[in-house]
Amino acid sequence: MKIAVIGSGYVGLVSAACFAEIGHDVITVDNDAAKIAALERGETPIHELHLPDLLARHRGGRLTFSTSVQDAVRKSEAVFITVGTPQSETGEADLSYVEAVASEIAAALDSPKVVVEKSTVPVRTCEWLRQSLALNGAASGKFSVVSNPEFLREGSAVTDFLYPDRIVVGCDDAASAAVMQAIYKPLTSGEYYAEQTRVPFEGYPHAQAPIVVTNAKSAELIKHASNAFLAMKISFINAVANISEAVGADIQQVCAGIGSDSRIGSRFLNAGIGYGGSCFPKDVQAFRAVAEQCNCDFGLLTEVMRINAAQRSRFLKKVRNALWTLRGKQLGVLGLAFKGDTDDVRESPAIAVIEALLKEGAQIKVYDPAGMANARKLLPAAGVTYVQDEYAAAQGCDALLILTEWAEFAALDLRRVRSLLKYPIVIDGRNLYAPHAMSEAGLTYHSIGRATAQPVAVAAAAGSVGRVTQSRESVAAMSAGPVGRVVSEEHAELAK
Ligand code: UGA
Repeated sequence: MKIAVIGSGYVGLVSAACFAEIGHDVITVDNDAAKIAALERGETPIHELHLPDLLARHRGGRLTFSTSVQDAVRKSEAVFITVGTPQSETGEADLSYVEAVASEIAAALDSPKVVVEKSTVPVRTCEWLRQSLALNGAASGKFSVVSNPEFLREGSAVTDFLYPDRIVVGCDDAASAAVMQAIYKPLTSGEYYAEQTRVPFEGYPHAQAPIVVTNAKSAELIKHASNAFLAMKISFINAVANISEAVGADIQQVCAGIGSDSRIGSRFLNAGIGYGGSCFPKDVQAFRAVAEQCNCDFGLLTEVMRINAAQRSRFLKKVRNALWTLRGKQLGVLGLAFKGDTDDVRESPAIAVIEALLKEGAQIKVYDPAGMANARKLLPAAGVTYVQDEYAAAQGCDALLILTEWAEFAALDLRRVRSLLKYPIVIDGRNLYAPHAMSEAGLTYHSIGRATAQPVAVAAAAGSVGRVTQSRESVAAMSAGPVGRVVSEEHAELAK
């Protein structure tokens, strides 16, 4: 099938490359000529696993690039809109880019096409799109409008596309449903999974990708409701983590217990410093705005956002309680991206935490495997030093903070970290380590929803070798030594 993808941002570029991978002829359009030129030269503008390989495989063949909407629309049977829908000042999605593209598509329609809305949009956008296409001169019968939300996660977007939990297509007529089913047939028939050259992926539970066909409004709601539900799951577990910490339970044991109930599931139950990125924060707000417009009370979403914001403040408190004052302290920081496996720092909790630490007078030495170039554009230059690896970030610092869940941050040589740090303190906002591993490496380890772990030597002196003790941070802060690093009740006793 001949497909146009309008907008070559994250969703557009990944979708275009994957449509080419499953056999379609794709024209990717962007009004940024420099971006199109870079794509044509063979550059990949985003850090995404498998994407450079797919672009290299299909560029100039099944995948071409253009700056002309008109040209791409005329050559295609289906036109996917994948432009940005940023948050407006009121919290609603700003659909002006979608509207602008709609008028360009309308002007280019010369034969019947399926116009597919793939950007994240509020319910009823398909309705508006139909109206806008008609107002801009598209004759009825020349187009149908479909919703096809994406569920790609940055970092695993290519395999999320090719090995989906489900494909959702929202169509209000049988002809467009047939076109959408044909587009996804290589996945829904399982043909793609029999190919030798397919992008590898272990553990896909389906022989054929499941497809859910709904009406357009339902598909639009599915997208917002899915993201809001996942954000709610994260805020829920963060709230439970705070209780867990207060009573001396271990949130990871709690999660194992809750998550093994198949009705709940164990994914997206990792407690931490809250969710970020270009999707969850924006989509939860936009969904709440939709609810308000429909006169539906959805206060639950307000609470999800409140807990998320509070989680960052709690983490900052944790840092203060471990170090007493922050002015003049040198902190090593691992992580800038909003999550692992991406260079995206938009709405990153790590950036928010660093900004707050800088305001309190701390100096930051930071390392991220992919996010440093993007972070430089957001963070002030003063007070931040970018270094080449994890160990350089720890070198000479008063404490090491872990803010992003990169796999390589979970595989540090802890004894080396211990030897490099000025004070042996690790504050982990992503729970990447077993507390006892930190104790054994001689580190004091603060994490989320778990008791503070003391270095073995300290714990042994207190009569509890390798024991993890419950943190009483306020008591500890008062009884802390010169660097304010004594935090557990037992440690505080020892200091006295
Ligand atoms: C999210 C959804 O997961 C995708 O299904 C959706 O397509 C996408 O938004 C979108 O709407 O475009 P993404 O923003 O790439 O994908 O990132 P996630 O993997 O969902 O993570 C979001 C945030 O939640 C990150 O900051 C991550 O660190 C945090 N998180 C995630 C947790 O704090 N705990 C968890 O258990 C999982």
